[in-house]
Amino acid sequence: MVGRVAPEKMTLTMVATCARGLESVLAEELGELGAEDIREERGALRFRGSHEVAYRVCLRSRIASRVLLRLGRFPVPDARALYDGVHGVDWSEHLNPSKTLRVDFVGISPQIRDMRFGAMKTKDAIVDRIRDKYGQRPDINVQDPDVRIRVHLRGGFGTVLLDLSGAPLFQRGWRQDAGPAPLKETLAAGLLRIAGWPQIAASGGALIDPMCGSGTFLIEGAEMALGRAAGRRRSFGFERWIGMDQASWERVKNEPDVPLAHQPQLFGSDISEEQLVRTRHHCEVADVKRYIKLRRADFQELTPPVDTGIIVTNPPYGERLNDLDEAEQTMKALGDTLRTKWLGWTAWTFAGSARLAKRIGLKPSEKHILFNGALECRFFAVSIRSDAPIGKPSWRQKDV
Ligand SMILES: C[S@@+](CC[C@H](N)C(=O)[O-])C[C@H]1O[C@@H](n2cnc3c(N)ncnc32)[C@H](O)[C@@H]1O
Repeated sequence: MVGRVAPEKMTLTMVATCARGLESVLAEELGELGAEDIREERGALRFRGSHEVAYRVCLRSRIASRVLLRLGRFPVPDARALYDGVHGVDWSEHLNPSKTLRVDFVGISPQIRDMRFGAMKTKDAIVDRIRDKYGQRPDINVQDPDVRIRVHLRGGFGTVLLDLSGAPLFQRGWRQDAGPAPLKETLAAGLLRIAGWPQIAASGGALIDPMCGSGTFLIEGAEMALGRAAGRRRSFGFERWIGMDQASWERVKNEPDVPLAHQPQLFGSDISEEQLVRTRHHCEVADVKRYIKLRRADFQELTPPVDTGIIVTNPPYGERLNDLDEAEQTMKALGDTLRTKWLGWTAWTFAGSARLAKRIGLKPSEKHILFNGALECRFFAVSIRSDAPIGKPSWRQKDV
């Protein structure tokens, strides 16, 4: 008789999604969390690992948006093939009639032109398979399902995925009040990694955000330096999945944090008192208050509070037409301030467009294109040396 593989010996195939542009830093992070055979796709990484790896990535990844378990992949020439392919998955390993279900379908083809139709076919196949086995069907719950299934249809193939994360992973549990234009926690964490904050924290340098808004860089930066688990305040989709291995989850939950720095130093300021109230509150909820010094200030007034560190900031986007001029002025003033007051420092700026980025008037030493939702953004470093070019915008569109 062929026995079932013990859960701790199983190798799962998974997909971690992320903001486009963060794939390579997510790949590094996944490797540190024990993922194997990591392959890059657009806005996602495919990888393999045990149940422990799956739960560790959900709990500790700061950059992944979602973690999905791959259940099947098959050609989808038409709707019947979609139904048959989904029906072919052994759904009794994943849910029973007492579990609620949500199905999301992404992608279209000449035969499946409506994603709602694709979702309906997928749901029918799952429900029929469960009803065949138990004589009863699971209910649908769109708001708070026990099991979320996604089907991606691309290049004539359907991929069936079970969402191990549940609610998206940017929801850490510390943000109480978003305020205007906050960065997603996952995006902020990816940017901090690109900027080299983990290495700077480990060598005793400081993180400075002179336009901190609701405090996303500061809180993610502090937690990252302290080695804390990003998802320690929340629950995950896999906890309601019947395929979950409790013993693996217990082991992963009990793994110790490995700090990069025991007393990280972070400094935040903003011109808006309202934003600082938010940041203070978030720092308290996240329990990082003692590491972060906050003050209300125009960034033009600031001077370096310590000898070494890095600036990482996200000036206003100027998304609305009448705000664009102001956003451009702010970027120019940032460049002027850095040049005159921050000699020897490196500043990383996340700008809402190439046009805004070039207003800083300093030549970037490194630059990246990233997406904040659908918005194509720029993330670039300027290193302030005594010979930095003065007043000459050197960021041309063709540079990126
Ligand atoms: C896009 S928001 C930053 C959002 C932040 N990264 C977050 O996740 O919440 C830009 C911030 O710059 C601040 N700001 C604008 N001009 C400023 C100035 N001259 N000095 C300091 N802060 C300024 C705004 O008050 C706003 O909070």
